[in-house]
Amino acid sequence: MAEDEQLLLAAAELAREQAYAPYSKYAVGAAVVSAAGKMYAGCNVENASYGLTMCAERTAIFMAVAAGERIIQGLAVVTDAKEPGMPCGACRQVLHEFAASADIPIVVANTHGERTSVTLAELFPHPFTLH
Ligand code: THU
Repeated sequence: MAEDEQLLLAAAELAREQAYAPYSKYAVGAAVVSAAGKMYAGCNVENASYGLTMCAERTAIFMAVAAGERIIQGLAVVTDAKEPGMPCGACRQVLHEFAASADIPIVVANTHGERTSVTLAELFPHPFTLH
């Protein structure tokens, strides 16, 4: 794996340690790399009112946007699930909004060392666009 993907996974793994998931107990960490080459990480943040929960992927993307970034070149996600967990539909749509292209890599891994990589186009072939 490319060194930058490894760094992105490491950032996601570190962010996962901050996950606030007392209800599901499913801790997720994510990290994105911007066009400027900077990494932004996030974790899932749950709420007693379950529907208010924010996924790790969107937290990471929003961290990048709040820092002034608008272009994302890659995403890494880490859980401790048996199989690496793919981003949910809402996060795919939000990633599409800021993705540099449909070819950007999404690397999903678990803490047991399993890893798989897909492109955004593979993960989300028919995004919603506002014309
Ligand atoms: N979760 C994420 O952080 N990312 C996803 O792509 C799917 C689900 C979180 C939300 C919730 O805190 C927990 O995982 C269980 O659904």
